[in-house]
Amino acid sequence: MGTQSSLNSSSDPSSAMAHYHQQRQKMLEGGGESQIKKQHAKGKITARERIEALTDPYSFVEQQSYIESRSTSFGLDRKRFYGDGVVSGSAQIDGRQIHLAAQDFTVLGGSLGEMHAVRIAEAQEAAMRTGTPFIQINDSGGARIQEGILSLQGYGRIFKNNTLASGLIPQISVIVGPCAGGAVYSPAITDFIFMVDTISQMYITGPDVIRAVTGEQVSHQDLGGAVPHSATSGVAHFRYSNEQGCLKGVRTLLSYLPLNNREHPPWHEAADNGDRLTPELHQIVPTAEKKPYDIREVINVVCDNGSFLEIQAEYAPNVVIGLARLAGRTIGLFANQTQAYAAALDINASDKGARFLRFCDAFNIPI
Ligand code: HXC
Repeated sequence: MGTQSSLNSSSDPSSAMAHYHQQRQKMLEGGGESQIKKQHAKGKITARERIEALTDPYSFVEQQSYIESRSTSFGLDRKRFYGDGVVSGSAQIDGRQIHLAAQDFTVLGGSLGEMHAVRIAEAQEAAMRTGTPFIQINDSGGARIQEGILSLQGYGRIFKNNTLASGLIPQISVIVGPCAGGAVYSPAITDFIFMVDTISQMYITGPDVIRAVTGEQVSHQDLGGAVPHSATSGVAHFRYSNEQGCLKGVRTLLSYLPLNNREHPPWHEAADNGDRLTPELHQIVPTAEKKPYDIREVINVVCDNGSFLEIQAEYAPNVVIGLARLAGRTIGLFANQTQAYAAALDINASDKGARFLRFCDAFNIPI
């Protein structure tokens, strides 16, 4: 961008400051005003607006904000953007440290090029070094086609970091736009996936390729939207009707979790009396052993008032899993649900339960 030479050529400090502010403004705008308008017209907010909604006010410290692609292939030397299509750094949520990377769809469709990948990977590595959760906000067309193999190498580093961080720090993926091709592998191996109706899509290949290869017509939402991933594939753990609710949901989930595998989950002052009796259970649990009942009613009576956070609520309903608090302390719940398939365990329910129990085991959450 000629930033350095312009600064050097200026002997006037005020013009150097003006230049700095101009470049900073450019960096903050990502793909520019018209792209931001397009993003809003699609019913989506921008990467920076997402970070603002997710984190505590003024806590976000951005890293590598002026990084740029160094590719010159296929005209990319004429399409350079500060930050290379992703915003990353550290921040706080409820006063606790996290690291994050939010893809910016206004820059080349949030596609992942070499430097974009460097930013995500370095945020992951900082999260591991400091023992803090990593949150990725995905809105991307996948591997940046113009950067070819360098994009794939970047994905390799990110995937490797996902496996190294597994069981060490909580990893959370928030899918708020397309998440196509190489972009889906990383979220799929993180601990929790959040999706939003109508704007989120996760698939390895999109409807056009499916039509070309198999002749089958399928919509973006039917193929990889929040509904099929919550109810059919079980890939998504939480589904929301809008982005603001979704980001609030991420904050709520974090309130149950330790920052890393060496800590205990945070204690919250109990909004409930630990000694209270629960006579309601006599009404909820039937004496006839073949009569089904809703196990969630039992959980809600036993756990601290309103603290039950159900996970994968729409998938494999014969098992209910989730986090809650007992006398202010986080617990993980695994419960048979007689209302679905007489609570018989099948493959989906077993996968759902086992994966959650492994997470609890890694992060010191009593089951
Ligand atoms: C480069 C991309 C891109 C990509 C989108 N763009 N995806 N640029 N590489 N992968 C650019 C578009 O050219 C466009 O640029 C801008 O981003 C916005 O995209 P639109 O198509 O206008 O947006 P929309 O209509 O909302 O559609 C979004 C989309 C679609 C559904 C994601 O762009 C799409 O299908 N993209 C390709 C998805 C894909 O096939 N990914 C797989 C890549 S291969 P302009 O300049 O026009 O604004 C892969 C394999 C990795 O990931 C394997 C790893 C192991």
